[in-house]
Amino acid sequence: MKLTYLGHSAWRIDGSRTIFIDPFLSQNPRSTTDPATIDRADYVLVTHEHRDHIGDAFEICRRTGAVLVSLHELSVKATDEGLRSIGANIGGLIKLDGLDLYFTQAFHSGISNPSGIVLVMDGKRIYHAGDTGLFGDMALIGAIHGPLDVALVPIGGHFTMDEVSAAKAVELLKPKIAVPMHYDTWPLIEASPDKFKALVGNHSTVMIQAIGSAMEV
Ligand code: NI
Ligand code: MN
Repeated sequence: MKLTYLGHSAWRIDGSRTIFIDPFLSQNPRSTTDPATIDRADYVLVTHEHRDHIGDAFEICRRTGAVLVSLHELSVKATDEGLRSIGANIGGLIKLDGLDLYFTQAFHSGISNPSGIVLVMDGKRIYHAGDTGLFGDMALIGAIHGPLDVALVPIGGHFTMDEVSAAKAVELLKPKIAVPMHYDTWPLIEASPDKFKALVGNHSTVMIQAIGSAMEV
């Protein structure tokens, strides 16, 4: 499976299905991906409605016919705009064609509830933390949905965990690989992925991804 970092909290995952998560592209000053070039997607997953996460999600769904999957309120908005959408909520297994999902809690604000997402595809288990502060039940996410192959965690601070909180999150989640995200997009969330990596130490392998780069898991 290939994971491509599209900057901020945006990811493209290519396996038996093509998935985008939080595709904030056209308004991201550091993005290297023109959303108009995305011509195929099966699912677009959105953790919450803040514009740096919903980003170009609706446009990608409109063009590719991909199904938008999110918590209920955002899904209703997508359906109202004529898109294919599946609304879910925080809790148990959401079984889709070629993809298993679990929405998890995230400690963050919003008109509608924010979430994290555990996705299981082709036997790989990936956790996208969304925007969140640190919470102790990340240990539960790691225990119930693990062993996690990859945890994608925000480190930029101010709106989310910083390097210190995110390193503790990795200790609780126990993923094989941890990848920092949601930093350096703007001066307000400047952070050091190297500091994060040093703090994680030997708890997990930290892979620092350049924007536009891909990793195989
Ligand atoms: Ni947010
Ligand atoms: Mn955000």
